[in-house]
Amino acid sequence: MTIANAPEPVAESSTDAAPTPQTQPTPAPTEWWRSAVIYQIYPRSFADSNGDGIGDLPGITDRLPHLAALGVDAIWLSPFYTSPQKDAGYDVADYCNVDPLFGTLDDFDQLQSKAHELGLRVIVDIVPNHSSDAHAWFQAALASAEGSPERGRYIFRDGKGENGEIAPNNWESVFGGPAWTRITNEDGTPGQWYLHLFDTSQPDLDWTNPWVREQFRDILRFWLDRGVDGFRVDVAHGMIKAAGLPDFTPKPGGSMGGSGSSVEGVSLEPGISDHEDEPTAPFWAQDGVHEIYRDWHEVLAEYEGDRVLCAEAWVEPLTKLARWVRPDEMHQAFNFTYLETPWSAQALRRVIDESISAFASVGAPSTWVLSNHDVVRHASRLALTAENPQGAGIGPKSPGLPDAELGLQRARAASALMLGLPGSAYVYQGEELGLPEVIHLPDEARQDPTWFRTNGERYGRDGCRVPIPWDADAPAYGFSPSGESWLPQPADWAPFAREAQIGVEGSTLELYREALALRHDHDLGFGSVTWMTGLGEAVVAFTNGAITVVANTGSVAIELPAGEILLASGDISGSILPGDTTVWLATAAH
Ligand code: NOJ
Repeated sequence: MTIANAPEPVAESSTDAAPTPQTQPTPAPTEWWRSAVIYQIYPRSFADSNGDGIGDLPGITDRLPHLAALGVDAIWLSPFYTSPQKDAGYDVADYCNVDPLFGTLDDFDQLQSKAHELGLRVIVDIVPNHSSDAHAWFQAALASAEGSPERGRYIFRDGKGENGEIAPNNWESVFGGPAWTRITNEDGTPGQWYLHLFDTSQPDLDWTNPWVREQFRDILRFWLDRGVDGFRVDVAHGMIKAAGLPDFTPKPGGSMGGSGSSVEGVSLEPGISDHEDEPTAPFWAQDGVHEIYRDWHEVLAEYEGDRVLCAEAWVEPLTKLARWVRPDEMHQAFNFTYLETPWSAQALRRVIDESISAFASVGAPSTWVLSNHDVVRHASRLALTAENPQGAGIGPKSPGLPDAELGLQRARAASALMLGLPGSAYVYQGEELGLPEVIHLPDEARQDPTWFRTNGERYGRDGCRVPIPWDADAPAYGFSPSGESWLPQPADWAPFAREAQIGVEGSTLELYREALALRHDHDLGFGSVTWMTGLGEAVVAFTNGAITVVANTGSVAIELPAGEILLASGDISGSILPGDTTVWLATAAH
C-alpha cells in the first residue's frame, strides 16, 4: 500500500465536525513547511555569548552556520521574551520584547537576518493560553475591582463556601497542585481566585474576551512585520474552557486530562492529553479554539511568503488532532502520538499509517518528532524499562532507568527512520549529538516548576534542558566562555561535543548530516510510504522514492533486501542488519 504526503482534496473552510475528505482533485501544494526539517533551539541552553551561564540570542547567531551545515530548513526558537523565567520563559511578561537575559530586539533582528542569509527560516514561539503574573495586564487586573474590564482579561471567579474559601472548581494544574490561586485584596482581605492550568505564575487569559483576541492579533503582526516565518503555538488545545467551568473527575486511574490511558502502553502526560473515547476535559480541546485559529490564519495570509502556524496540541486520536490543521486553520501540528510510540515495529507501522492518512484527509502534511524540551530525550526514553508519564522526567530514583548504550543505538535507529518519512520533521537541539537525558541532576539544581509543585515526586523536564556541548575541551564544553551553566553539565559529555563529532565517520552528528542531505537530494519530504513486507515482525520497511528505509526494532539480526546501503545508523557487516539499527538502501529499480 502506498500512502503519500500529498494532500487529498479538502473543503475550503472548516467546521467543527470531523474532517470529511472530498473528491475534487487539487494540484499538489509546495509550501516549504510541508517537507521541512525544523530545528528547535531552546535559547537558555544553546549557546551563551556573555558568560552568565544562560544561552542568549547573540550566542545563537554566532552558531547558526553549524545549523546550516547540518542541513535543516528552519529554526524554531522557544520563548526569549521578557519574562520572570518561572517556567523558563513560557511565562511571558511582554510579548513584544526580548528579555535582557537573552539580548535585545536588535539582537533578534540580527539573528533573523543571519538565519535568512543562510537560508534558514525562523519560527518563534507564541504563548497565548496564559501570560506571566508579572505581565502589566495581570498586574492591572489585580489592582482593579472585581468585575472590571481588567479582571475580565483573565479567568477570575469567586470561591465557593461560606467565605469563598473553596476553589471555584476541582481542576488541577498540569504541573501538580490546584489550578486556582486566591488573591489577597489591597486591604488584606482574601479576594477572588484566578485560574492557572500551569504554574501559579501563569494566569490563564480569557479567550472569550474580544479584547484578548485583538491583543494577540497585534502580537502576531508585530513579529510578522519583523519578518518571522511563523509561530509555534503553545498549548493550542487549551485556550477555551467549557462554559460554567464544570468540575471534572477523571476516570479511575486517570487524571485531570481525562485519560491516564496510553498509546501502545506508554502513558500520556496526566492532564495534558485529550482522548476521543473519553469525556473531554473541560479545559482541553474545546470546539471554540478553532475559530481563533481561523482568525489567525487570516492574519498570516495578509503576509507574503508561506508563513506557518504549528500547534502544540496534546490531542488524540490523530483524526481529532487533524481538526487543528484544516485548510483554514493551522498548517502543522506536532505529532505527539508518534513521539509517544514505543520502539515496536507494529506500533510504528500503525502510527505512520494513521498519521499520514489523518493529516492528508485535511490536506496537511504529517509531522514527526521524537524529542523536545518537555519530554525525556529519546536517547534515554527508548530504553526505559518502566512506564514514564510524559512530563514526569527521570531522576536517580526512577524505576527502569535506561541502558545508555542501548538508548543511543535505538535513538540513532529511530532518527534514521523518522528522517526517511514524508512530511515535516522536528529535531530538538542536541539530539543530533546523541545526547541522553541527564538523570543525575542534583536536587538543588532543579528548576522545573513540576519538581516544586509535586514536592519532588515528579522530576520534571530539567534533564532534557541541560546546555549542549560544543567543544570537548572548553569550559562548559564551549557552551559559555565563563564555564557557567544554568544547569550543571555531566562530567562525561566530552564525546558528545559537536567538535568531537564533526567529520568523524559513524558519529551521530554525521549520521544526521548524511540523512538530511539524502532527504533533501531525494525530496523525501514530498514523497510517500510504500510498505515492504516479508522481513519479519520486528521490521519497519518502506520505500520513499529512491530510498528504501529498513529499521530493525528487534534484537535478532535479519537479512537485508538487495540494494546499495546509503546510510546506516549502526555497524553493518555484509547484508546483515543487526537489531536496533536502521539502514537506507537505494531503492531497487522495478
Ligand atoms: C508547553 C511548553 O512546551 C512547556 O514547556 C510549558 O511549560 C507549557 N506549555 C506551559 O506554557
